[in-house]
Amino acid sequence: MDHDDIERLAAELHKKGSSWSPFQVAASTSLVLYFAWAGSLALGLRKVYLQVPYVPSSVKQVRNMMSLLQGRSGKLVDLGSGDGRIVLEAYKQGFRPTVGYELNPWLLQLSNFRAWRAGCYGKVFFRREDLWKADLSDCNNVTVFLAPSLVPLLERKLLSELPDGACVVAARFPFLNWSPTSIAGDSLETAWAYNITAVRQAGRQMPS
Ligand SMILES: C[S@@+](CC[C@H](N)C(=O)[O-])C[C@H]1O[C@@H](n2cnc3c(N)ncnc32)[C@H](O)[C@@H]1O
Repeated sequence: MDHDDIERLAAELHKKGSSWSPFQVAASTSLVLYFAWAGSLALGLRKVYLQVPYVPSSVKQVRNMMSLLQGRSGKLVDLGSGDGRIVLEAYKQGFRPTVGYELNPWLLQLSNFRAWRAGCYGKVFFRREDLWKADLSDCNNVTVFLAPSLVPLLERKLLSELPDGACVVAARFPFLNWSPTSIAGDSLETAWAYNITAVRQAGRQMPS
C-alpha cells in the first residue's frame, strides 16, 4: 500500500460519513505512523550503509594490499572493516594492534565470529564506530576500500590526523591528489600505497 492508496482510503472513509468510528481512527493513525516509521528507517539506513555498500575485498585484493605493507609493523586500522578480513590478515602478518571500524552490526558479529574461528578473538578489535570519528593520530598503517566520492574527504582527514611516516593503502579507488609510492595488482584489484610524509612534502611544494 502506497501513499496514493492511503489517500484513496481516507477519501472513501470521508464519503461514508464525516464522523469516523474509533476503529477507523485507530486504523488510519496506525497506517500513518507505520509509513512515517518505515520512511525514517529507510532514510537512516540509506545514509549509514548505502553510501558505501559492503563489498568484501577479494583474496587477490587482500594479497595486493598486504604486499604493499610488507616490512612494516605497528598499529593498523581498516576504515570500514566489513567482515574483518583485512584486520585478520594484518594480525596474521604481525601488525599490533589491529583495529576495524564498522557501523553495520551484522558485519561486526561476523567479524568477531571470524576472529574466534581464526583463534584471535579478543586479540583483534572491531569497533562499532563511524570511521569519520576515529582518532587516527597514533596509527601508522591505514587500509581503505570505500567509494570514489569519499576520496577527497578522506584525503583531508588522513592528512590532518596521521603521524609522519604513516602508510595509507587504498584499494580499487586511488587518491587522485596524491602520488603513490607503490602500486600492486591490476584492474579492480589494484591497490595503491601512499607515504603520508611524502604527500605532505609534495603539498608544501605545490604553487598556491
Ligand atoms: C567496500 S566495504 C570494504 C570492507 C572491507 N574493508 C574489505 O576490504 O573487505 C566498505 C565497508 O565500510 C563500511 N562503512 C561505510 N561507511 C562507514 C562509516 N561511516 N563508518 C564505519 N564503517 C563504514 C560499510 O558498512 C562496508 O562494510
